[in-house]
Amino acid sequence: MIYALTGFMGCGKSSIGREAARLAASCGAGILHFMDLDAVIEEREGRSIPEIFAAVGEPGFREIEREALLDVLSAEANSSDRKNTRQTLLSLGGGTLTDEGSRELIRKHCRCIYLRASIDTLVENLSADGIEGRPMLAGTANGKDAAARTQALRKRISELMADRAPIYESAAGHIIDIDGLSYEDAARLVLNSFSL
Ligand code: S3P
Repeated sequence: MIYALTGFMGCGKSSIGREAARLAASCGAGILHFMDLDAVIEEREGRSIPEIFAAVGEPGFREIEREALLDVLSAEANSSDRKNTRQTLLSLGGGTLTDEGSRELIRKHCRCIYLRASIDTLVENLSADGIEGRPMLAGTANGKDAAARTQALRKRISELMADRAPIYESAAGHIIDIDGLSYEDAARLVLNSFSL
């Protein structure tokens, strides 16, 4: 079974996914393979996500992302231990589900878990992380001072979330509200959702 973690940039998909895999191993719940789709894309392409966006723009990136997703799903389907109870947790990119083809692949082959965060949490996390490496947020760094940059970031997140929230919600079989949760708490909820 492949569990796909979705949610907006900065909600902690990769950190929570990694933590869930660590917890599964440490509490004897069995092996949970963790994969990060952005890392798969960078490895496959031999260049970073910002370099891909600079070369082919968002539409080109979505095609590359869909092909990488297809590769991951095919490799999982052909995996030698597929007959055993292999479980994989795949962290998607924040925009993967905006592509119809990728959405369909995930709908057919994965159980999707949405890590839902409020705009306030996303602004806080992304301000702390920095937006370098996140081309979809480029431009919000141009404000003249920190307050203007935060305001631009909030506006951009709100615009993207207006389109994406319904997509995340309709793709997800399970939603976890992560505001105020530690990575470990959120990871435990991810593991609990597996029994659904
Ligand atoms: C994107 C999210 C990024 C990465 C790319 C596009 C998006 O992944 O796939 O920069 O459109 O939201 P993270 O959500 O892991 O930052």
